[in-house]
Amino acid sequence: MILTETRERRALSRILEAVARFRKENVVERTRQFQDKVAVITGSGAGIGKSIALLLASSGCRGIVINDIDGKKAEQTAKRVRSLGSEAKVVVADISTPEGAQQTIAAASQEWTRLDCLVNNAGICRRGNIWDEPEDQFLKTMYINLYSTFLCLKYASQIMKRQKSGSIVNISSTAGITGGTMGPSYGATKGAIIALSKHAARSLAKFNIRVNCVAPGYIDTKLMRDVFQEKKQRTARWDIVPLGRLGKTEEVANAVVFLLSDNASFVTGDVMLVSGGRTS
Ligand SMILES: NC(=O)c1ccc[n+]([C@@H]2O[C@H](COP(=O)([O-])OP(=O)(O)OC[C@H]3O[C@@H](n4cnc5c(N)ncnc54)[C@H](O)[C@@H]3O)[C@@H](O)[C@H]2O)c1
Repeated sequence: MILTETRERRALSRILEAVARFRKENVVERTRQFQDKVAVITGSGAGIGKSIALLLASSGCRGIVINDIDGKKAEQTAKRVRSLGSEAKVVVADISTPEGAQQTIAAASQEWTRLDCLVNNAGICRRGNIWDEPEDQFLKTMYINLYSTFLCLKYASQIMKRQKSGSIVNISSTAGITGGTMGPSYGATKGAIIALSKHAARSLAKFNIRVNCVAPGYIDTKLMRDVFQEKKQRTARWDIVPLGRLGKTEEVANAVVFLLSDNASFVTGDVMLVSGGRTS
């Protein structure tokens, strides 16, 4: 009886050792992926952008530029990033202006002399109908969602072209494919982001720069809670999502970090949906 217990214990400890070895090897592998890499993430003070920053930091990214229009939120993300072992530089700027975008992109090369990864994430969403969408709301959404993406793509590609390497992910939305249930400006900007990304992917491929999109469905963030203020409005979304729930920001971050990484070395000009089956 004692012998059997000892044997079982030995077998158990061998299994536990193997699990620990597997975990260690995988953590090291993930950590190596972004070693020496420098990233810029727009709108990373909260929500999806914040989760991307934290996942990149825990994947060993050397330096991350945390851009947000809200300085307090950006500082909070930077603090978490540093606690995970990466360096962080906060740039408080409106990414929809040429000055703000230039300042944000330049921060990477000023701090770390390079730029490997860019995530165009900052965005806003307003509800409305085609017949009553205020003109200024349409333009504001175009500026923050689309023009900012163009500006950052432009300035970042100038640096990445010289390096002859880089990976860019632009955050679109399922609304960019379906037209969406939000305001007309939202789906229009998110659809245009897909076209802009495909254009950029074609023209930057010869410089070894990849450009992809991630199109999230309903994800539980402040943006989502602002649009659907009542809980019952949010839970009503579950019915139109085959997986029957809202997505988590970490689930979007996993897709973004995959596309940024060398694991996606033959993927460019593509759109990855993270929507719980929303468009199926
Ligand atoms: N949450 C969803 O359900 C969902 C679905 C599809 C796509 N998206 C997209 O994901 C991206 C992130 O959304 P989220 O849900 O995390 O939103 P969020 O509101 O939680 O976070 C967005 C962040 O961007 C910042 N920001 C806004 N305007 C800015 C500007 N002009 N300059 C710099 N920073 C600015 C905000 O301060 C905020 O910290 C957006 O592009 C959004 O359209 C979200």
